[in-house]
Amino acid sequence: MNDIALKIENVSKVFSKGTETIRAVDNANIIVNQGEMVTFLGPSGCGKTTTLRMVAGFELPTEGTITIQGQDMTNMPVNKRGIGFVFQNYALFPHMTIYNNIAYGLRTTKMDEKQINKKVLDALDLVGLKNAERRYPNELSGGEQQRVALARVIVMEPHLLLMDEPLSNLDVKLRIHMRTEIRKLQKKLGITCLYVTHDQAEALTVADRIVVMSRGKIEQVGTPLEIYSRPKTAFVADFIGQANIIKTIVEKDNGKTIEAILPGNVKIESPKVEITDKKFINGATASLVVRPENIIIKEKTIGLVQATVITSIFVGSHTEYELQLEPGQIIQASIDFQINSKIYQEGDEVSLIFDNKAALFLNE
Ligand SMILES: Nc1ncnc2c1ncn2[C@@H]1O[C@H](COP(=O)(O)OP(=O)(O)OP(=O)(O)O)[C@@H](O)[C@H]1O
Ligand SMILES: [Mg+2]
Repeated sequence: MNDIALKIENVSKVFSKGTETIRAVDNANIIVNQGEMVTFLGPSGCGKTTTLRMVAGFELPTEGTITIQGQDMTNMPVNKRGIGFVFQNYALFPHMTIYNNIAYGLRTTKMDEKQINKKVLDALDLVGLKNAERRYPNELSGGEQQRVALARVIVMEPHLLLMDEPLSNLDVKLRIHMRTEIRKLQKKLGITCLYVTHDQAEALTVADRIVVMSRGKIEQVGTPLEIYSRPKTAFVADFIGQANIIKTIVEKDNGKTIEAILPGNVKIESPKVEITDKKFINGATASLVVRPENIIIKEKTIGLVQATVITSIFVGSHTEYELQLEPGQIIQASIDFQINSKIYQEGDEVSLIFDNKAALFLNE
C-alpha cells in the first residue's frame, strides 16, 4: 500500500486577462500522506482555493503534475478522480429530504437501494443526525446542514476529501464545535483531507500539518507546533500567532546559534531557525523573532534591554503591553498574571529579558 495519498509537484497556475497575468499558485510542492489532514492557511488571494481546485480537477495547472494514489491525475476529469468536496455554500437540494440528499450520489452509481439505505443511515449516524432523515434542509440549523453536506460526501467514500472554508458561514460558537467534530470524524474514517481556512485557530486545531501560503507561494509546511515554534520566515512568524521581529547586529554565527547585539547593546545568543549553509557575517543585521509570551518585564536595570511602556492592558489572566524599545521599534509583550505580579503603567521605564531559548533567528 502506498503511503502517499497526494503529490503536488512543481505546480503553478497562471491566469491571464488581457495583458494582465496573475501567478495564483507559484511552483507548489506538497506531499500528503494517507489519512493525513492538511490545512491551507494564508491571507485572501494567496492561492488556497486555486490549489484545491487543481487537485479537484476544476482547474488545470499551467505547469507541474498532480498525482493521487500513485496515479497521474493532472489532466483527469473531475469525476474520475475519486474526490469529495465540501465548500462554504454547501447547497443541499432544498426539495429533497435529508435522506435523499445523501442518497443522491450513490443512486448515480448502480448500487441497489438496500445497500444505499445502509450507507445513508450509517453516514447520518456518523455525523450525529440519526433522526433527521425525513426532514428537509430548511428544517435544519446551519451546522446540521453542514453535517449533511459532509455525510453526502462521505457516503461516496472518496480517496481524498477537499474542504474549502467549510465553516465560514456558521457563527463562531458553532464553528468551534464543528471543527472538532470534523477532525474527530476525519480521524475515525482515516480519510485524507485538504482543508482550506483563513482562520488561524481552525488551521492549528484540525491539522496534522499546515501549509502556509503567501502570494501564490508556499512559505512553510509543518506540524502546528513546528509552524508556531520554528517559523521559517517573518511572514509565517507574524501570520501564525503574534511575533515581534527585532533587528539585531550579528557578532558570531556558529551555524546553529547566533550571538548578536540587541538594541541597548545587550548580547543575546539564540538558535537559528534552520541549519543552513547560509552564514551571517559579523556586523550583518539578523531578524530575531520573539513571541510576546517569551518576554519578562522588570524594574529598570542596567545591562538589560531598556524600554518604555506605551500601553498596558490588564485582561485578567495576563497583561498585554506595548513597549517602545528605541525610536521606531514597538514590541508587544504578554505577561501572565500572578498574585504578586506588578502591573506596569503607561510611561514606566522598564527593562526586558527575552527568553533566548524561545527566541529564534530567521534565515532571511
Ligand atoms: N478564474 C480566475 N481568473 C483570474 N484570476 C483568478 C481566478 N481565480 C483566482 N484568481 C486570482 O488568483 C489569486 C488566488 O486566488 P484564490 O481564490 O486561490 O485565493 P484564496 O487564497 O482562496 O483567497 P480567499 O481566502 O479570499 O478565498 C487571486 O489573486 C485571484 O484574484
Ligand atoms: Mg478561497
